Amino acid sequence: MVYPIVFGQLLGILGSMKGMTSESVASQCVLKLYQDGGIQMIDRGETQQLAQFAAHFVTDTDQTQGCNFANFVPFGEETPLQRAEWIKFLGVFANLESRANQVYDAVKQNYLCLSKTVSSQTRSFKPIAAWMQYDNVSGVWSFTKETYKLKYVEDAGGENIDKSINKITYNTSNPDDLEDLHAILCVSYRVFLIMKV
Ligand SMILES: *[C@@H]1O[C@H](CO)[C@@H](O)[C@H](O)[C@H]1NC(C)=O
Ligand SMILES: *[C@@H]1O[C@H](CO)[C@@H](O)[C@H](O)[C@H]1NC(C)=O
Repeated sequence: MVYPIVFGQLLGILGSMKGMTSESVASQCVLKLYQDGGIQMIDRGETQQLAQFAAHFVTDTDQTQGCNFANFVPFGEETPLQRAEWIKFLGVFANLESRANQVYDAVKQNYLCLSKTVSSQTRSFKPIAAWMQYDNVSGVWSFTKETYKLKYVEDAGGENIDKSINKITYNTSNPDDLEDLHAILCVSYRVFLIMKV
């Protein structure tokens, strides 16, 4: 099986993960399995190699699909909880529906508990946050605007920076862009969440 890792980890089925198509993985467990040879690297274009798996989960639904492909698109969802609920979809493939339901319920309960605690507090100060990412090939910094990330900030009691910024991308090779970006970063009360592309 080739599948979405966080969900696999939560369902306790990483051991059945046998292949992956990218090394950009945050999970230490998966990296260890990969280093030890338990998981092999598969070229996305190698349809014959992909055919040996019981299921291959894909997020790019435009590509030609083999009959073992399963479209996995939590990324189209707008809120963090809607994205998390996709664990139930994976649970079906692993015959672990009830475990998936339990995990989702626990995640939902924790999330709502924290966001309710935050919303019940009356504070005059809200930290202003921005999600940013850097593309090290083009040298461009950009503010990201995905709805679920903006919602994380709100649900955690922060405020999104977006409304005050009218430009999204900043090219580090362009002096004017750099100056503008530094001006934004210099405003000290802001919090930045940096993500690598
Ligand atoms: C960008 O980052 C990747 C991964 O860290 C690295 O392999 C690559 O050499 C970097 N590219 C440039 C242009 O710095
Ligand atoms: C960034 O700016 C440099 C210098 O003006 C330019 O050559 C390059 O194409 C720009 N990169 C992007 C991604 O726009």
